[in-house]
Order: sequence, then structure tokens, then C-alpha cells
Amino acid sequence: MSGKYDKLQQQFLCCYPVNKMAWSSVKLPLNWEDQQELIAATCGHPMNRRYPVRRSYLEAFLKQLMHLLRDQEDVHDDIYSSLCGPVADNKASTGSTSTYAYKHYLLKPGAHITLRESTSFVAEGTTGLCTWEAALALGDYLLQHRDLVRGKNIVELGAGAGLLGILLKLPALQLQVGQVLLTDGSEPCVQLMRENISLNFPDTPKEQMPKAEQLNWDAVSTFPWESHAETDLLMAADVIYDDSQFDALLGAMDYLYARRGSGLETLLASTVRNVDTLHKFMTQLGDNGYKVTPCANVSACASHFCRDHTAAVQIISIRR
Ligand SMILES: C[S@@+](CC[C@H](N)C(=O)[O-])C[C@H]1O[C@@H](n2cnc3c(N)ncnc32)[C@H](O)[C@@H]1O
Repeated sequence: MSGKYDKLQQQFLCCYPVNKMAWSSVKLPLNWEDQQELIAATCGHPMNRRYPVRRSYLEAFLKQLMHLLRDQEDVHDDIYSSLCGPVADNKASTGSTSTYAYKHYLLKPGAHITLRESTSFVAEGTTGLCTWEAALALGDYLLQHRDLVRGKNIVELGAGAGLLGILLKLPALQLQVGQVLLTDGSEPCVQLMRENISLNFPDTPKEQMPKAEQLNWDAVSTFPWESHAETDLLMAADVIYDDSQFDALLGAMDYLYARRGSGLETLLASTVRNVDTLHKFMTQLGDNGYKVTPCANVSACASHFCRDHTAAVQIISIRR
């Protein structure tokens, strides 16, 4: 059933920037029932009650809502009591002091991903404990090009909090992929991915879930590849930002292409922050004998995720 606050709900649950939310769907003055419905769709949503979004986001959302209602005499108690709702725990999986909270990505009726993520962009020595725009863009691309993943065994490099692998295996999406192996060089990321996998596949047999393992790109040759299915598709999102890691990443790709030969394809999504950095990696790809084909980006209106599209994301297919 669709409700008048569906867009706000989708945006609230994944912590979309408050100032860019679909506030135009809130028609003023907002009567008592509508206030109740709006709160029930957002702060009071059962997913948020069980796995709350970060406190600072909740407060910013309610502040904006109260600002909208500033000329109304009656403000529903539910709006105030939302401030007393459940709070995400501060305990990191690794026992450090980083703060974690949840995000819920609603994809279509009956299909959503809940991720526990760090509330900081950089925590525990990695940038991978939260989900980046490039992963959402690549997720959109895969959902629009389902044939690229059907029947394929997929390995993700630098998988961070695990969004893409969880997306690929979500039963409600029926993408019919083969085995999915999520890897990251950071131990806290691997722990978080495993936690997020358990959260999203409560009733799925273990062999049908994605797996998460630690893999540092410069240790690719010592990884136990023989315990995993032969890789058909490699993917990586937002891993091209630090040129000191380019040799290690290319070394890992060289190793995997040598094992698999021309049957292997890589899909790489990169947020365009620094054109020179991306250009440098593209040049190195060419020098290492790779052929790069740009992929069409998914437009804002066709996006399955709430993406604010302020940062351009480049998706390329790499073959040898
Ligand atoms: C910006 S995050 C992107 C995370 C995720 N792909 C996303 O887009 O949300 C970059 C990720 O690459 C991982 N990474 C960076 N250098 C690495 C290396 N040498 N070996 C393995 N993983 C690495 C980091 O730990 C981090 O999880």
C-alpha cells in the first residue's frame, strides 16, 4: 500500500540529507491525523524503532518538521515523544569507542537492506565502515542490468560495510547470482560486513548468503582462492582515491585476471572527486593491458536508492 509520506519515509530511513528531503509532500496546515501518519512513517517506523538511525539525524529531522509546523497551534505529542525513542548503541563491533547507528535502504515493497554503519566517514583506520555514494550508484546500475550478474560468481574488493553483496543476494530481488564473496583489507570492515550479513539474512541457509573475508590487495596471492568458486565478475566501489594504493589494486587485478583469463570482467564505480587521480588510475589500467569501457549512469529518477546526485559517479567495465 502506498502512503502520502512514502518518499519522506524512504529518505528518513536511509538518513538522506534533511535539507534535501521531499518536504513538499507535507501539505500545511497538517492536521492531527496527518501529523500522526507522518511520524508513524518515519521516526515511529518499526524498522527505526528496532534499529534506530543516528541520534543527530533524528534531531535534525524533527527540528525541520517543527520549523514547518511553527505557525500551527497543535503539534502532535508523537513528534515530541519521538525524541525519547530508542537510540543506537555506541559500542563498536571491535570494542572501540566509535559510534554506530543504522540505515535502512528501502528498494521496493518487500525489499530493503538494513546496515549498521559508523556515524563517522573515517573510523578505526578505514573509510569503509559507512556506505559511499559510489556503492549506491553501482547498486543502481546492477539492478538495471541484471543480466550482468545472473549466474555469476562475484568478488567485491574494498567492500566496506557490505551493501552491494547483500543487495546481490537479497531473496526478494531474485537476481539469481552465484556465490558472492565480499572482501576488505580492514578487519573492522570484515566484522561489520559479517554482522550486516546476519542482520539481512535471518532465515537464509548459510550457503546462500554472501561471505565476507579479509583480503588486502597486496596479499592477494596468499588468499585461499581454492576454497571459493571461480570468479566471473569483480566489482569495487569508491576505491580510487589514494594513489599510493594503485599498484596494490592493479597487482590484485593482474593476479585474478591471470587466474581467470579473458572471462573476467570488473565493474568499478568511482566518485569523481579529483579528476587527476582518476586519470592516473585509467592510465595505469591502459599500461597494464586493460581495456576500459564507460558504463551509462543511472539517472536520478530511475534510482532505487535515495541518492542526492551532487557528486558525479563514474562506472566503468574493465576487461583484458
Ligand atoms: C571509501 S571505502 C568504500 C567502501 C565501499 N566500497 C563503499 O563504496 O561504500 C574504501 C574501502 O577500500 C578498502 N581498502 C583500501 N585500501 C585497501 C587495500 N589495500 N586492500 C583492501 N582493501 C582496501 C577500505 O578498507 C575501505 O573499506
